[in-house]
Amino acid sequence: METSHVLEVLDVVEETADAHSVTFAIPDDLAEAFRYTPGQFLTVAVPSDQTGVAARCYSFSSSPHADPTRVTITVKRTADGYASNWICDNLKPGSTLRVLPPSGIFTPKDLDADLMLLAGGSGITPIMSITRTALAHGTGRIVIFYANRDENSVIFARELSELAAAHPDRLQVVHWLESVQGLPTQEQLRAFAADRLDHDAFCCGPAPFMKMAMAALKELEFPRERRHQEKFISLGGNPFGDIAEAEQAEAEIDAAEHDELGDDEPGSGDPAPAPAVAGPVKVEAELDGETYSFDDWDGRCTLLEFLESKGVKAPFSCREGECSACAVAVLEGDLQMAHNDVLDDDDLADGIRLGCQSTPLTEVVRVTYSG
Ligand SMILES: Cc1cc2nc3c(=O)[nH]c(=O)nc-3n(C[C@H](O)[C@H](O)[C@H](O)COP(=O)(O)OP(=O)(O)OC[C@H]3O[C@@H](n4cnc5c(N)ncnc54)[C@H](O)[C@@H]3O)c2cc1C
Ligand code: FES
Repeated sequence: METSHVLEVLDVVEETADAHSVTFAIPDDLAEAFRYTPGQFLTVAVPSDQTGVAARCYSFSSSPHADPTRVTITVKRTADGYASNWICDNLKPGSTLRVLPPSGIFTPKDLDADLMLLAGGSGITPIMSITRTALAHGTGRIVIFYANRDENSVIFARELSELAAAHPDRLQVVHWLESVQGLPTQEQLRAFAADRLDHDAFCCGPAPFMKMAMAALKELEFPRERRHQEKFISLGGNPFGDIAEAEQAEAEIDAAEHDELGDDEPGSGDPAPAPAVAGPVKVEAELDGETYSFDDWDGRCTLLEFLESKGVKAPFSCREGECSACAVAVLEGDLQMAHNDVLDDDDLADGIRLGCQSTPLTEVVRVTYSG
C-alpha cells in the first residue's frame, strides 16, 4: 500500500453554489511526495461511520508551478452523493484529511503543444490545472470547450475570462450552456474539433458528454495517442490500507492458500485469475525513461505487485481497475485483466492494460508506462 499522509486545509473557496475549491498545505518534508503534473489527482479518505473511509479521487485545479507549498482540488457536489457533500459541508481552514500522493496519466506530455480541452461541469478541474500551467510555462494555443447546465453552474467563469483577456493570441474559451443551447450533440462537437485535428485533446466531464466527445473525435479519426480522457467515477475499494482492509487482505491470502491446497470453492470470493503461462515470465517495463528487466514473474501476482516487489515505483491509485492511473501500453506479448472499469474497446485494441489488474498471457511481456 502506498503511504498516506494527513494534510491540513489552508483555505476553502465557494466557486459556485455547489462547487468548493479546497487548498491543502504541503509541508517541506512532503514536497517531493506531493510533486504533481497538471491533470493529476489526489485520492482522499473521507471519514465514514459506515465504512471507516470512503476513498475518492479529486483532480488538482491548481498549477504545480504556482506554489509548491500548497495544492488545490475542486469538488462539485454530486446529487445524493456521500463524499463530495461531506467535503463541501465539513472542510474548513484548519481541518485535516488523509490523502494519497498525486497520481494519474491525464496530463500533457508537451506543454508547448496546441491543446483542445473539452470539459463538462466539474470536468473543468483538471482542465483548469492544465490551462493555468500551459499558459504560464508553454507556448501553444489552447482552446477550451466548456459545457454547463446554466450560467450559475460555470466553475472558474471569472478566471477563465481573465485568462482569455490576458492571452488573446493563445487562449480561446467557448462556453456552452445547456439552458440556452441544449446538450451539445456529437455533430456539434465534431464540428468544433474538425479544425483542430493537430491539437492534443483532453476530455473530462459527465459520462454522456465524454461519450459524445470521444465518439466525435473517433469519427474524425483523431489519432489515439493524442486523445486523452479522464473518467470521474467513485472508487469502490479502499486504497488506504487501513486496519479493516489489511485484515481483509490477510483473509484473502488465507483463502488463496487454501485454494492452492485443493480446497477450492468455485465462485467464492474474487480470487486472482490462474496464471495463463506455466513458466516464469520475462518482463520488461519502461517507466520514466528507465527500462526495468526481470525474468522471474510467476504470473500469480499482478504486474503492479510484481514491479513493486522488485522496488520499481510503478504508478497506481485505486488498485481496483477503476481509475487508469496504472495504465500501460503493451509492446510485446499480452496481459489479461481481472477487472476493468475504465478502458474502452479502442483502448484494449490499442494494447492498453491496467497494471493493477494484469497477469501475463505470454512468456515474454514488454510494456511502457509512457504510451
Ligand atoms: C481520476 C478522478 C478524478 C476526479 N476528479 C474530480 C474532481 O476534480 N472534482 C469532482 O467533483 N469530482 C471528481 N471525481 C469524482 C469523485 O471522485 C467522486 O466520484 C464524486 O465526487 C462523487 O462522489 P460522492 O461520494 O459524492 O458520490 P457517490 O459516489 O455517488 O456517493 C454514493 C456512494 O457513496 C456510498 N455511501 C453513501 N453513504 C456513505 C457513507 N456514510 N459512508 C461511506 N459510503 C457511503 C454509497 O454506497 C454509494 O456507493 C474524480 C474521479 C476520478 C476517478
Ligand atoms: S490503479 Fe486504478 S485502475 Fe489500476
